[in-house]
Amino acid sequence: MDTKKIQAAKQYIHSKIMEAPDLGLILGSGLGVLADEINNAITIPYSDIPGFPKSTVAGHKGQLVFGDIEGVQVVAMQGRFHYYEGYSMELVTLPVRVMKELGVQTIIVTNAAGGVNTSYQPGDLMLIKDHINFFGTNPLIGPNEERYGPRFPDMSSAYSKKLLQLALQVADEENIRVRKGVYVGMTGPTYETPAEIKMVRSFGGDAVGMSTVPEVIVAKHSNIEVLGITCISNMAAGILDQPLTHDEVIETTEMVKLKFLSFVKAIVRKMNGG
Ligand code: HPA
Repeated sequence: MDTKKIQAAKQYIHSKIMEAPDLGLILGSGLGVLADEINNAITIPYSDIPGFPKSTVAGHKGQLVFGDIEGVQVVAMQGRFHYYEGYSMELVTLPVRVMKELGVQTIIVTNAAGGVNTSYQPGDLMLIKDHINFFGTNPLIGPNEERYGPRFPDMSSAYSKKLLQLALQVADEENIRVRKGVYVGMTGPTYETPAEIKMVRSFGGDAVGMSTVPEVIVAKHSNIEVLGITCISNMAAGILDQPLTHDEVIETTEMVKLKFLSFVKAIVRKMNGG
């Protein structure tokens, strides 16, 4: 872990913002619209931040947006770094380290993913109750920085039960149907084969995607509370008799974005005691 890089990014950001964020938002494919809801926004392109790579995927913007939502100081990642882009696990999770340094105590992590559970439908929102790390690596491999967290972090409650309950209550109040399931993280960039999806299902996975797991591991390591929200953008391979495309993922997230926006805003309001 390159603590100098973390500090350099923190210092640069400190010189640009007025107020420290309490809540981090990591916005997945097509879900970056949430950052447009931030009031008094200060936007910092990743390319300006020392040590940050440039995000490259279509549908991802590549900037941090600071400001407030529902009275809460937030920092949003509009676009994230994916392992399949060729970035190291350290770079993929660098923004989470920087968020922690800036004072973030809670993160809402979002993504688009394929539905593995056959009762799911494209457009469904799923609260992540747990994950399976299928990346074949772990962002905490390497020397441990005790200042951030322990060598062997507990992962028995990576996703805060308290925040999951809060989100379920909000969904109920706002009449938003949500699922609760296990997110399986794979490297991509290929979508899975039908045989892989059968395996994922038999292992207990409900949704499959190419992100989130590294960021959540690093967040948990440094004692950040995590709420995970997945937008089911398509049914995973082999469930329907049709090929998967990134266009379908973006189309579905476009369709869902208003529901997603009002859900997350209501969650933030409730977190703030509203
Ligand atoms: N598989 C993996 N990642 C994804 C998918 C999928 O079906 N949909 C969106 N991200």
